Amino acid sequence: MSTPDLDMTDFFHSRSVYQNPYPYYESLRAHGPAWREPHQGVVMVTGYQEAMAVYNDPATFSSCNAMIGPFAQFPVPLEGDDISGIIEEYRDDLPFGDQLPTFDPPNHTAQRALLNRLITPKRLKENEEFMWRLADRQIAEFVSRGECEFVGDYAVPFTLLVIADLLGVPEVDHDSFRAELGATGGSVKAHKPLEFLYDTFTAYIEDRRRAPRDDVMTILATTTFPDGTLPDVRDVMLIASNLFAAGQETTARLIGTTLYTLAERPELQQLLRDERSRIPAFIEEMVRLESPIQGDFRLSKVPTTVGDVEIGAGTTVMLLNGAANRDPREFDHPDVLELDRVNGRQHLGFGFGIHTCVGAPLARAETRVSLERILDAMADIRISDAAHGPADDRRFEYTPTFMLRGFEELHLEFTPVA
Ligand code: HEM
Repeated sequence: MSTPDLDMTDFFHSRSVYQNPYPYYESLRAHGPAWREPHQGVVMVTGYQEAMAVYNDPATFSSCNAMIGPFAQFPVPLEGDDISGIIEEYRDDLPFGDQLPTFDPPNHTAQRALLNRLITPKRLKENEEFMWRLADRQIAEFVSRGECEFVGDYAVPFTLLVIADLLGVPEVDHDSFRAELGATGGSVKAHKPLEFLYDTFTAYIEDRRRAPRDDVMTILATTTFPDGTLPDVRDVMLIASNLFAAGQETTARLIGTTLYTLAERPELQQLLRDERSRIPAFIEEMVRLESPIQGDFRLSKVPTTVGDVEIGAGTTVMLLNGAANRDPREFDHPDVLELDRVNGRQHLGFGFGIHTCVGAPLARAETRVSLERILDAMADIRISDAAHGPADDRRFEYTPTFMLRGFEELHLEFTPVA
């Protein structure tokens, strides 16, 4: 693909760029590690160190626009040398204003502490045991066919049910979660009604507070803030919903990308079959090279600089994880998958700083368990030429948004292992 002309390409409205954003990122990088794009006035950060500096400075940069960037419209102009007051007054009116990634300290600190008390090492261990069983069950649904649409048949339902289990959704309700959240053989395109999650978790939490049982949902319902106070039902319900919103599609995309890569590279597939201990390094490289969350936004509260770009208060900044993870100043041969990379885990695919992904260990475990079980059950995994075209002319549809990267559908063929 040729290098896009940045004057002609509005990143925030360029569906074609999302199919392959890397040439666009390189055009940005040619202007330096941070550069103000001319269409929405967003300061685009492609430099690794420059992105880290912003991630590390929540006093200067608010996360109130983390998920929507330039589409966070305040009802008043963002004027003045300190817009902190305006942010606090209107943050609840912004889209996703009730989601943890958009919170700033001190509220963020409190809610994150609550979340950390919910996802305990014990819970994660039990959840991983569930993952192994679930992976087998999920693969059994299609393995005998020797083909599948991997995103809908495996990645979406698997990631959905792992989070359901983590939160203690009773197994009898798993089918209704699958149905309601559109994960029964559909794709990541499926509609995700947050209302369903809000209503269902509110009911669970109220029920367990009224009549505690010996189950994980009761622990979720009765966990307190570190200072001993009991959170509102709404706080817990929001955290539970946040975990689905933040953790399901992202991990589904990562698992899809790993399978695509193994299917296109038989020698790599063989290597990982023979040397399973290299799977974690492979997963890190996939998060680095095809970051499921391509970027996170911040809003400057006061005048400051990003890289060497001077910005006023109220400027939208986009931290392009997908570009910073290919910064040649940080990663040698940045576009190449290298299992032996010494700084392979230091990518920004899970963000950095106070908002760094709480689900990163979970996403890594989900992908590792999936790959182990898939390599056990499916030999000679290949891309379906019938669905995606011949090897020298593949056609894939990527998620049509600037935030996320991954396949909408991935048709695979393989030989079932008897
Ligand atoms: C491959 C999969 C995943 C990727 C690439 C990913 C990426 C990220 C990134 C980049 C952030 C930082 C956002 C920011 O700073 O604005 C983040 C935050 C978050 N992630 Fe993940 N994530 C993944 C999986 C998960 C999973 C499985 C869960 C939970 C079950 C999860 C829950 C969260 C939550 C709750 C936050 C917000 C944390 C905060 O604001 O303090 N993520 N994730």
